[in-house]
Amino acid sequence: MKAVIPVAGFGTRMLPASKAIPKEMITVLDKPVIQYVIEEAYSAGIREIILVTHSSKPAIENHFDVNFELEHQLEQKGKEDILKSVKNTCPPDLKISAVRQAKGYGLGHAILCAKEAANSEDIVVLLPDVLISHFRSNLENTNLFSMINLFKKTGHAQVMVEPVADSDVEKYGIADISNEILKEGESVLVNGFVEKPSWDQAPSRYAVVGRYVLPAGIWHLLEGTSAGAGGEIQLTDAIDALLKESPVDAFHISGKSHDCGNKQGYISTFLEFALLDKRFAEMSKGLLEEL
Ligand code: G1P
Repeated sequence: MKAVIPVAGFGTRMLPASKAIPKEMITVLDKPVIQYVIEEAYSAGIREIILVTHSSKPAIENHFDVNFELEHQLEQKGKEDILKSVKNTCPPDLKISAVRQAKGYGLGHAILCAKEAANSEDIVVLLPDVLISHFRSNLENTNLFSMINLFKKTGHAQVMVEPVADSDVEKYGIADISNEILKEGESVLVNGFVEKPSWDQAPSRYAVVGRYVLPAGIWHLLEGTSAGAGGEIQLTDAIDALLKESPVDAFHISGKSHDCGNKQGYISTFLEFALLDKRFAEMSKGLLEEL
């Protein structure tokens, strides 16, 4: 399956950091956020990625392209490890292409911009603000991989969810799953979705956290979706409409998601990743204690 990653947004919640560089290029440890997301897709078996991007953000495509001059220089200086990390940004069997979203009409519209590039087929969608912790090695990459397998086995669309606090409900799409309680890695049929409800109107505390496996039927529904929450064309509304045509499951994340699209989320992701990464853990712990 092909994956679509919408990266055209201006990243207003990360300003001023995202003024001249895309928010997706802000780093967590030694890699830009987008690289974690693309590695996650690759580990789940995806070999073709369509970025939905904007004219002001060529740095993202450049990051995954070959920088011949840089590679040549590193080679001549014998800096093998650094050279390897530069070459590894894009595995040779991964194809990354880009289409443009000229105007910000919302997530649903962004995904629709990839329709032709995706040949109107089934698709996987990954939102670039969300990182899934890869440190619990026994769980590594199981989420998206399991979602794709479940989709192939059952034909049910899969939407990743995670429980959130009452105070955070209004930031997310929320799934209606009839008061069911889900365990990690479990999926259950959804009755509907509501985009960014107030906490007292929300059908549950299960928030949509940025990973979707969707059938080809989503394309014509996206075309028919009018502006919803925030005056934008919402992917959540198209998935809600999909429910009338084919089943959709809420898939409970294993591990946890990290929202790097806002400052608090970014800081906690950076700290947590630094404390969990073998290369930086000791030094980060020591530094935090000292501070
Ligand atoms: C988008 C989706 C929302 C989802 C969220 C996850 O909202 O519309 O349903 O819960 O991503 O991060 P955004 O954060 O772009 O406003």
